[in-house]
Amino acid sequence: MVRIRLARPGQGSAVEALVAVALGGDGEVALAGAFAAAIEAGGGRIRLPYGEGLVLVACPADDSGQVLGMLYVCPPIRLIDDCADLGRQVQQRLTEAVAEVELLAVAERARRRGIGGMLLDAARDTLRGRSCKLLYVKVRHDDKPVLGWYRRRGYQLLPQGQPIVIRVAGRPVGFADGTDGYRVLVKPI
Ligand SMILES: CC(C)(COP(=O)(O)OP(=O)(O)OC[C@H]1O[C@@H](n2cnc3c(N)ncnc32)[C@H](O)[C@@H]1OP(=O)(O)O)[C@@H](O)C(=O)NCCC(=O)NCCS
Repeated sequence: MVRIRLARPGQGSAVEALVAVALGGDGEVALAGAFAAAIEAGGGRIRLPYGEGLVLVACPADDSGQVLGMLYVCPPIRLIDDCADLGRQVQQRLTEAVAEVELLAVAERARRRGIGGMLLDAARDTLRGRSCKLLYVKVRHDDKPVLGWYRRRGYQLLPQGQPIVIRVAGRPVGFADGTDGYRVLVKPI
């Protein structure tokens, strides 16, 4: 049995090891301990310039402290920054309404047991309770297995060059158009 819960202090380095798996070799250097430090300081709710990021972990139900998988989801910080001229209320709405699954990884030994799917479901359920309307994820354009994995879980693959469009303050705002080497998948929640 596996349980999904918010990360807790003491799990920082185990989560960080999975962050490196999620990002591949480059990410390890780029993050350099940031996740571990944030989790050790405050657990799985990470305060951000807008709202908070959530680190969910999959752990054995026996509470042995092992971390079998992790997911990090957060508001679209760059987009919210770009909407500064539309005012604080609009930025607040964006913070609540849209979230990105930035990182997801399951330890190799624990794959194909449904843990990745459980992490995604738990993120969706948590965000739904916070009035989030749209979840999206960016996947490397040539990573066919992972693109297929999300599609089988109801995520819609946007055509390249077609941005996610949401209405903000009555006008359409487009972002994440899949022209940066990553494809974009979206799921209403
Ligand atoms: C992508 C990833 C997160 C999937 O994690 P996972 O825990 O293996 O995912 P699941 O077990 O939910 O699904 C994997 C497959 O196992 C199958 N499966 C699920 N439960 C199962 C079970 N109890 N018994 C046998 N097979 C099962 C699923 O059907 C699924 O196959 P499908 O995609 O054809 O539907 C994992 O492969 C990973 O960490 N990859 C490296 C990092 C990465 O690419 N991250 C994503 C970047 S955005």
